[in-house]
Amino acid sequence: MIKLDERLAACAALVRRGSSVADIGTDHALLPVFLWQSGWTDIIATDIKPGPLESARKNIEKYSADIKLVLSDGFENLPPRDDIIIAGMGGETIAEILAGCRHKDENTRFILQPMTKQDRLRRSLDELGFNIVHEHNTYERTKVYTIIYARYMGEKF
Ligand SMILES: C[S@@+](CC[C@H](N)C(=O)[O-])C[C@H]1O[C@@H](n2cnc3c(N)ncnc32)[C@H](O)[C@@H]1O
Repeated sequence: MIKLDERLAACAALVRRGSSVADIGTDHALLPVFLWQSGWTDIIATDIKPGPLESARKNIEKYSADIKLVLSDGFENLPPRDDIIIAGMGGETIAEILAGCRHKDENTRFILQPMTKQDRLRRSLDELGFNIVHEHNTYERTKVYTIIYARYMGEKF
């Protein structure tokens, strides 16, 4: 069983049991592999670059996990999902990815973990019609990581 670090474990803890999942910007795919090992069956892992996808493929094979890999810029090649994780990127990048989300639904859970520019992301969430349902920090040695669970609440007017 994969042991996630505190940051990724905090993201995984917010994924609803049995949900269809997408991990956008997966890189090594450790989080999707962990979810698969924990009983999730409908998992897509995406990345914008072939290199990270290759490293994801290696881990998926290593753990014999059944996870779909998709080369995609943000939501571009992604079908609707229940729970979406976007972790380990700058707040601006996460905001840009969310701005391109076509399948916004009030029941979709967006689990966001910005490494920088957290305030920029909070502002963009507001502007894009998302509501922060829950936010907390997790700690690893001297580092503090913010984990945000957001929902789309409809266009602002
Ligand atoms: C630092 S890694 C984070 C990996 C993992 N999510 C984590 O939190 O440990 C960021 C990954 O996001 C990918 N990425 C950046 N912009 C992206 C985009 N617009 N769409 C999909 N992936 C993206 C990068 O290629 C990179 O592999």
